Amino acid sequence: MEQSLTLKTEYGLSGTSLRFGAIAYGCWRFAGTDVATGTAKIETALESGFTLIDTADIYGTTWPDGFGEAEALLGDVLEANRGLRDNMVLATKGGIVPGQPYSSAKSYLIKACEDSLTRLKTDVIDLYQIHRPDLLTPFEEVADAFNTLLSAGKIRSAGVSNFTTAQTAALQHYMDRPLVSHQPEFSCAETAPITDGILDQAQENNMVAFAWSPLAGGQLVSGKAEAPHADKIKRIVPVLDRIAEENDVDRSAVALAWLLAHPAKVVPIIGTQTLERIRSSADALKVKMTRRDWYDVMEASRGAPMP
Ligand SMILES: NC(=O)c1ccc[n+]([C@@H]2O[C@H](COP(=O)([O-])OP(=O)(O)OC[C@H]3O[C@@H](n4cnc5c(N)ncnc54)[C@H](OP(=O)(O)O)[C@@H]3O)[C@@H](O)[C@H]2O)c1
Repeated sequence: MEQSLTLKTEYGLSGTSLRFGAIAYGCWRFAGTDVATGTAKIETALESGFTLIDTADIYGTTWPDGFGEAEALLGDVLEANRGLRDNMVLATKGGIVPGQPYSSAKSYLIKACEDSLTRLKTDVIDLYQIHRPDLLTPFEEVADAFNTLLSAGKIRSAGVSNFTTAQTAALQHYMDRPLVSHQPEFSCAETAPITDGILDQAQENNMVAFAWSPLAGGQLVSGKAEAPHADKIKRIVPVLDRIAEENDVDRSAVALAWLLAHPAKVVPIIGTQTLERIRSSADALKVKMTRRDWYDVMEASRGAPMP
């Protein structure tokens, strides 16, 4: 019988002692609730093994007025539950500026990071990421901001999100320490990181590839697929459902397992706000998927057999 693909259960950030589960919990949709409800979500994520918590300064209930709300709620959760901070790897992002739309100027990034520290009520951010590349700041200056934050002990590691491989290499050129992570959109409906070089660069440089919207923002599971993914999702869903039935798990577990099976250090960041769905996401780690199963999903996504 064909061997199933290995799903790793834990990863680290290079150059640090930080370790975390192979699925992460994301706070994009986290704001707009009370501390007790927020605490229940974070505790459920940690208990499920999702020990990297990803947020961003821009996450809130509304755009752009909700800037800072998700970090502030997480900060309140951490303040109310003193032990929690030590049990998580805390990741956040800065660099999207309402109305501009981006800045990675050194003075801006340093202030943005300090504001995140204040809202999160913590002394140090484990992973600080630039949310989207600012096309107007020289890479040398962006690196200077990261180098300053690292050497001041305000952040333990630095990463990028929505960067191309060339932008990442240019930034790395000026960094004192390795960039430890990418964060692209990646799901069976959005497979660009497989072919645009992001996952290759992640393997080459020992970076973690955090996959945002790993269920395509819920479209893979809700039955409400929208353009540009709708046709693709119609093809993918029956394949996921077949593998789900064989493994006695739900479709979302298979969609996550498909990401975990890639040989790069892919860490899906789940975004459900439902405690039961947070817990059941851990079923992804039980999925036994063969090479043929994996390529069946890839071919359904492509809409054509592999060449
Ligand atoms: N770097 C970036 O630019 C960027 C951009 C976007 C997101 N992110 C990160 O990625 C994280 C995850 O993104 P995401 O929230 O889009 O991830 P996702 O896990 O793909 O989607 C979560 C959404 O799917 C819904 N969902 C999950 N299971 C469902 C089911 N069985 N039936 C119906 N709906 C279901 C959830 O609703 P319920 O809450 O009702 O379960 C939630 O609205 C964010 O929190 C953030 O940390 C980063």
